[in-house]
Amino acid sequence: MNDEIISEINGNVLSLTLNRPEKKNALTRAMYTALTEALEKAGSDDAIRCVIIGAAGTDFCAGNDIGDFVQGVAEFASPDVDIETLPVFRFLKALTFFQKPLVCALQGQAVGVGVTLLLHCDLVVAAKDISLSLPFLKLGLIPEAGSTLLLPQRLGYSRAFGWMALGEKINSAEALRLGLVNNVVEPGTQGGAAQEMATIAAGLSPSSVRYTKGLMRDAESLWAVVCEEGRIFRQQLTSPEAQAAFAAFMKR
Ligand code: COA
Repeated sequence: MNDEIISEINGNVLSLTLNRPEKKNALTRAMYTALTEALEKAGSDDAIRCVIIGAAGTDFCAGNDIGDFVQGVAEFASPDVDIETLPVFRFLKALTFFQKPLVCALQGQAVGVGVTLLLHCDLVVAAKDISLSLPFLKLGLIPEAGSTLLLPQRLGYSRAFGWMALGEKINSAEALRLGLVNNVVEPGTQGGAAQEMATIAAGLSPSSVRYTKGLMRDAESLWAVVCEEGRIFRQQLTSPEAQAAFAAFMKR
């Protein structure tokens, strides 16, 4: 396990903690790979009945690491590379097809994939101080992780488009109202609240949970959307707008 992803087992609950707080837990290819391997292992281990995704520090996740994006752009953008072999897509596939309850403990800022991954979690606990943003359009990219399907489904088209296009930030009260999170707690207590939820979820019949998730979310259709988004996203990565946005961030 990579040091930037901490894995802990408590009873039959696995906690995965993004642990790169000095970079706001921005996700690198190595972190995606560590998360994928942990989810795949948890998926096939009967002793694990629920997984929590949380984060160290004051903020949940600043999205994809932009430096890592820039370094990996040739591979990412190459149509000769099968999308399903790329670390981020292996992670998204593991999330999309995960059959056990996934709980998320959220705090502070969450950006990009740090937000869209929530849409794959079954239960989300948020600290009062969250601020959720989706800057894909501002960066010359497109939304990913199935969010072009999931966001309009959850929020309605106008609210979903407005969030992305107008650069809005969604706070905890709004996230609760929109049904993006299950409950809101004091900052610092989200980990404990997520553990309580996870203990309940882990006590449920694994087959009931598996069937229910399968009926409530059509993973095959969702995965087809993730791949189609990925096809366009990789094309957009080399667009002048995306290149300029990344260069500006790197120069700050
Ligand atoms: N990729 C790489 N490094 C990142 C990062 C990212 N996505 N987000 C933050 N960091 C780094 C910063 O460069 C900074 O590193 P430094 O201390 O070595 O300079 C450190 O994390 C702290 O970030 P900072 O910007 O100082 O914190 P902040 O609280 O003022 O702002 C964010 C936090 C998340 C709003 C801001 O960092 C940001 O906009 N990040 C980019 C988010 C983004 O566009 N993600 C990609 C989506 S596809």
